Amino acid sequence: MLEALAGTGVDARAFAQDIGVENVLVNDMDPACVAILAQTFPHVTSLDINKEGQQLFIPVDLVYLDYNTHTLGRVYNRDRRLCTTDRLAFSTARKFVILNDSSIFGYRIWSKKHYSRMLGAEIPSEEAFYKAMAGYYHGLYPEWNLTAVGYCFTTKNGGFAYLLFSRQPGELTIREYKQ
Ligand SMILES: C[S@@+](CC[C@H](N)C(=O)[O-])C[C@H]1O[C@@H](n2cnc3c(N)ncnc32)[C@H](O)[C@@H]1O
Repeated sequence: MLEALAGTGVDARAFAQDIGVENVLVNDMDPACVAILAQTFPHVTSLDINKEGQQLFIPVDLVYLDYNTHTLGRVYNRDRRLCTTDRLAFSTARKFVILNDSSIFGYRIWSKKHYSRMLGAEIPSEEAFYKAMAGYYHGLYPEWNLTAVGYCFTTKNGGFAYLLFSRQPGELTIREYKQ
């Protein structure tokens, strides 16, 4: 798997528990993060995804992206850098893409009606929100299916969700995790 924005490797270490550090490729452009990552992971790169994405995104089973600021609004508004990286991830991953997405915070706090407009659907609940999002992403990436969502509200950064996309079709499961 590849974590392209790996930070200090908190998430990457969780993945490594299942698949081993040698199977986790980690990348971050911040030299301080790279130094920390190199203490655990044998395959570390320090590429800038905005400039060297083509080099970074090699075929792997799973690509995980944790921008910290990925939202439906930025996708809808075609944020150039974010959409370019998303596209690279979806075009190179063989089986799965996981996006760490912060839309749930805006959904609950301030932008329900904006998201409803973007999705072209009523979204009275988190479940309706993610079901509509599944349809939206399938329109953008027809070979991919949003099959699992785990979301969480946090006091630290408001909230986020792991969006798991699979090349295989499957019924969407949605689960809230309590902090
Ligand atoms: C939210 S953090 C990732 C946290 C990580 N999932 C973890 O568990 O520690 C996002 C990371 O992206 C890195 N980053 C931001 N822009 C980047 C770019 N253009 N190319 C490569 N890394 C970048 C930052 O240095 C930061 O460490």
